[in-house]
Amino acid sequence: MSTDSHQSRAQFATRIGAIATTVGSAVGLGNIWRFPFEAGAHGGSAFIICYVFFILVLGYPVMLSEFVMGKATRSNIFGAFKKLSNGKNTWSISGVVGIIAALMILSFYSVVAGWTVEYTCQSAIGALEFGSQEEYHEYFNDFSSGNWRPLIWTWIFLGINLVVLLRGVTKGIEKMSNFLMPVMFVLLLAFCVNSLTLDKAKEGLEFMFKPDFSQITPSVVLSAMGQAFFSLSLGLGTMMTYASYFKNDTQLGTSALSTCGLDTLVAIMSGVIIFPAVFSFGISPTAGPTLVFEVLPSIFHKLPMGILWSTLFFFMLFVASVTSTISMAENPITYFTEECRMGRRTAVVITILIALVFGTICTLSFGCLSDLTVGGMTMFSLFDYIASNILLPFGGLVISLFVGWKLDRNILIDQLTVNRTTKFYLLKVVIFCMKWVAPVGIILVFLNSTGILTHLYRIALAWVE
Ligand code: TRP
Repeated sequence: MSTDSHQSRAQFATRIGAIATTVGSAVGLGNIWRFPFEAGAHGGSAFIICYVFFILVLGYPVMLSEFVMGKATRSNIFGAFKKLSNGKNTWSISGVVGIIAALMILSFYSVVAGWTVEYTCQSAIGALEFGSQEEYHEYFNDFSSGNWRPLIWTWIFLGINLVVLLRGVTKGIEKMSNFLMPVMFVLLLAFCVNSLTLDKAKEGLEFMFKPDFSQITPSVVLSAMGQAFFSLSLGLGTMMTYASYFKNDTQLGTSALSTCGLDTLVAIMSGVIIFPAVFSFGISPTAGPTLVFEVLPSIFHKLPMGILWSTLFFFMLFVASVTSTISMAENPITYFTEECRMGRRTAVVITILIALVFGTICTLSFGCLSDLTVGGMTMFSLFDYIASNILLPFGGLVISLFVGWKLDRNILIDQLTVNRTTKFYLLKVVIFCMKWVAPVGIILVFLNSTGILTHLYRIALAWVE
């Protein structure tokens, strides 16, 4: 079988374009909104240590696995499993999980992306200029618990996705990412420097970087793993779909390295912006999903030309969200078009409609549906928890097992070395991670978080004694 079939499919025009697009998918609310509040809620440095560890031992190998499968088959996750396992359907279960996870994430993600649109507009008209931190808190609460305004923003955000997705792959997505990602990076850097000058910057940095291993608990480990998958857009076939648009001579090893590296850098930078401010302004780092929206406007307000920075930043965050959500949506869309033989237009409309229904429920879970909870979580948090902490790692588990154990080793090596024309120095290490480290690691974290591991450990201890 030729491993680079279906040349007629769309391809990214340039190599930089391909990297910018995968980075565009990876960098988004996951880095700037989710990372700080998850780190804040899970002990700061303890969480960050686990997170970086998971990026290295799970994130990088799983990303490469997705790249290999996508580029070798030029298919969506279903087609990829089908082609590479000679038509056996059992592996495609992770495809089903991926579609469900993509739709769940799209739903709650659109709520937060809607908030960024609100904050862009309010910043621009100067309505986010308050004197005290309480006022920022109240403003956010009033806004997010209202039923109509947040809802309309969620809908508008999904509408924008609809338009971008209908314009197709290379044109819409690539152009936007190429231009905006570098701009956002520079802006983030400037805000980092600013945060370092705040009076309690040191406490913020200590919270993030001073290792405190006693804080590493099963729930910290599970959340850090979920965050690693979420932030790198792994586990549901997004990176697989994007790799299916790579050119034949794309070097997968370096592309994955730059994507993982830049994504982690942006997350850490975002922490360096938020935590010094959290401590300086006397906010609790455990505030949860609202944290960033209460802290950032306050930071900007204290800067000269604050209105400009605030508007610009929330606008960039909004664009970063779009480049992420379109990558998520590509997953169900390519499934509908390539496996169900639907037209692209219909596939796009169906995907967005599903997200609209569940996005509405998620939005209202801050307002009139706030009492609707499962296990103490609102629908919004539940969607996030199930998709990020369970479905994505599960998808990653299946993908790395498949590539490590089942995939023809020649195809794997061909893909990682561009048909043996280049050297890939980490080959052995990466294959070992795909076969052993990632699967065993993911299973251990699952067992650990259900308490089973602690139980087994106690039994073993009792037995030894
Ligand atoms: N990684 C993106 C972020 O950090 C979100 C995202 C895009 C995603 N595509 C995904 C998450 C696929 C999981 C799976 O904002």
